[in-house]
Amino acid sequence: MIDTSDLKDREYIRAIEGVDEVLDPELVKRGKVLISYSDCAECHKPDMRAKGPAFQDIAKRYPTSQVYINLLARKVISGGTGSWGSPVMAAHPKLTMDDATAMVSYILSLED
Ligand code: HEC
Repeated sequence: MIDTSDLKDREYIRAIEGVDEVLDPELVKRGKVLISYSDCAECHKPDMRAKGPAFQDIAKRYPTSQVYINLLARKVISGGTGSWGSPVMAAHPKLTMDDATAMVSYILSLED
């Protein structure tokens, strides 16, 4: 028997190969606080899919590197769809790139 739930998980997460960089613990802490004051929890849970993907699933997909952190910080600011299915993430145009970077660093720190 093929375990289809495991296969589905892998097709959903689509982990990208890459080398993880060490995150600045202060940045990660700041990101956690910023997230708690923002609207992220309306659509994201740490460990369960909601309207948006679980933060842990995002951490499983993306290597913890500056390239992906920048990419994801831009996406949090601009919003968008298509990476995890059809739901749309609202834009956060008032967020600075610095704050979005801290938030994404926190999310990617949740891998394990
Ligand atoms: C209105 C619901 C909603 C809110 C509010 C929201 N998100 Fe999202 N988020 C989503 C959805 C839906 C996706 C999946 C988008 C896709 O498939 O491209 C997503 C995806 C993401 C991703 C992964 C993007 C990718 O391309 O893989 C990150 C990182 C993220 N959100 C962070 C945040 C942060 C940080 C906040 C708070 C500032 C936030 N989100 C607020 C719905 C939301």
